[in-house]
Amino acid sequence: MINKGIILAGGMGTRMSPLTKAVNKQLLPIYDKPLIYYPLSILMLAKIKNILIIVNKGQLNQFKKLIPNGKNLGINISYAEQSKPRGLPDAFIVGEKFIEKSNVALILGDNFFYGQNLTTKLQSCSKLSKGAKVLLHTVSKPELYGVAKVNSRNKILKIKEKPKKFISNYAITGLYFFDNKVIKFSKQLKPSARKEIEIVDLLNKYKKNNNLYADFIGRGGAWLDTGSIDDFYKTASFVAAIENRQGLKIACLEEIAYLNKWITKKHIHNAIKFYGNCDYSKYLKKIASK
Ligand code: DAU
Repeated sequence: MINKGIILAGGMGTRMSPLTKAVNKQLLPIYDKPLIYYPLSILMLAKIKNILIIVNKGQLNQFKKLIPNGKNLGINISYAEQSKPRGLPDAFIVGEKFIEKSNVALILGDNFFYGQNLTTKLQSCSKLSKGAKVLLHTVSKPELYGVAKVNSRNKILKIKEKPKKFISNYAITGLYFFDNKVIKFSKQLKPSARKEIEIVDLLNKYKKNNNLYADFIGRGGAWLDTGSIDDFYKTASFVAAIENRQGLKIACLEEIAYLNKWITKKHIHNAIKFYGNCDYSKYLKKIASK
């Protein structure tokens, strides 16, 4: 059972400059809340209560103003700084002390997931005891992502980062589940041509040992990555459309914590005071009055 998760929320955000010159990308808005709320909500829906957020050097205070320590959500949040973007598996080297002897989930700070049955899927993924598990989703432009080729029994045959030549339409999303070997394997990785240690090289280590598993988000689910300004706005429009239509918020952290029975109505009232007079607080008032 995985009860530790890492959100990798560093990176230079170069593709979104000048928006990201003074503010970390994960603090920019996806419609009515900061981007970081979405990956954090995913770990919370997976029932993961111990979370490490990795941020760029010098950006800790920005995050702590918004999410000090997780107490108000009934979870434990700690922070670590990454001095420069050395690659995704660096999360397990920076996070070694946090992980200790546990298994661990990793979610990229700029990934957005939504869909029917997602919570059930997440909770089943977090039961992983051995090996590694990735979540795949079909995309029309696989050349932009890590890609996996699978056989008819869903066994991963091949994985490649941003393949120039088509191998499959299945992108490897930015949510991964690992056993504790991930620390050892990450330390063995050599930087690639772009001078980063690569998540596909890490996954290949598990594949070699026949220990890499795949699951699928399915076509009723949405996976969006907010890497570019365009993607950012498209994701924000998606959230706005769903929230306004249904009157239900996506990634309302206090609602998730409350439904998980991690906090009480008192915590929600404290959150309303913290946020002040805004639509998010109005929504929280509705939750607290039920
Ligand atoms: O979004 C899914 C894709 O994410 C996967 O399909 C790819 O296999 C994986 O490599 C990754 O591709 P990206 O090109 O989107 O990765 P990017 O370098 O943009 O980093 C993703 C997030 O992680 C971003 O919010 C910045 C953060 N990051 C990245 C690196 C390399 C860090 O915090 N530290 C880092 O060292």
